Amino acid sequence: MSGEGPGARHVAIIMDGNGRWAKRRHLPRAMGHRKGVEAVRELVRSLKETSIECLTLYAFSSENWKRPEEEVDDLMNLMRKFIKSDLPEFIANDVKLHILGDWQGLAADIVEMLEDALAQTSGGSRTLAVALNYGSHAEITRAAKLAAADGEITEQAIEHHLFSAELPPLDLLIRTSGEVRLSNFLLWQAAYAEMLFTDVLWPDFTPDHLKRALDDFETRERRFGGR
Ligand code: IPE
Ligand code: IPE
Ligand code: MG
Repeated sequence: MSGEGPGARHVAIIMDGNGRWAKRRHLPRAMGHRKGVEAVRELVRSLKETSIECLTLYAFSSENWKRPEEEVDDLMNLMRKFIKSDLPEFIANDVKLHILGDWQGLAADIVEMLEDALAQTSGGSRTLAVALNYGSHAEITRAAKLAAADGEITEQAIEHHLFSAELPPLDLLIRTSGEVRLSNFLLWQAAYAEMLFTDVLWPDFTPDHLKRALDDFETRERRFGGR
């Protein structure tokens, strides 16, 4: 650790730029997504060398259904393949899977695979949280409704019903590909998170980029409104 502050415990990433990565190489978009999965795999492998207790990845937004059917199918098939190929590695590396979003709304076979993966990794010590069919507005609305059903709508009650309720507070939010927006990701959780925007396209993002982002995080002075 090179900075002065404590290491980031919870890092979230908006993995953006797969399409542009492929376009630059005159490849189909599907190739960009495939490379993007490889970047995820390498990053998860590197987690044990970092301060991170939870890595949250934005994999598919509730707005991504607007994409052409062929691309949505490619993404869902990649998801199937990834769970199948990488589940044994998660278990071996003590990685616990967590999912944010309306994932029960995905295809039945994916839901089944995810349920199995959640059960098989429940003993892991580091969390890989994947946002699937996720949108922050829907998450907050759902949490407010559940809080109201419990009784009073308070900040604590809403937090208790967010998909992130069991995760550590969000420390650092990274977005790749040069876009500087949140695209409906973790709007509540990001209230006091540090932000890092990089031009690197997601398939080119390496564990070394993550380590540099963590070093940068440690140099930041967080105030949370105090002084
Ligand atoms: C991110 O890459 C992956 C998903 C949104 C699923 P994009 O597919 O958004 O890539 P660009 O933004 O078009 O380059
Ligand atoms: C955000 O990226 C969603 C994911 C990375 C899964 P998008 O590419 O969908 O976001 P916009 O449309 O550029 O805001
Ligand atoms: Mg994009």
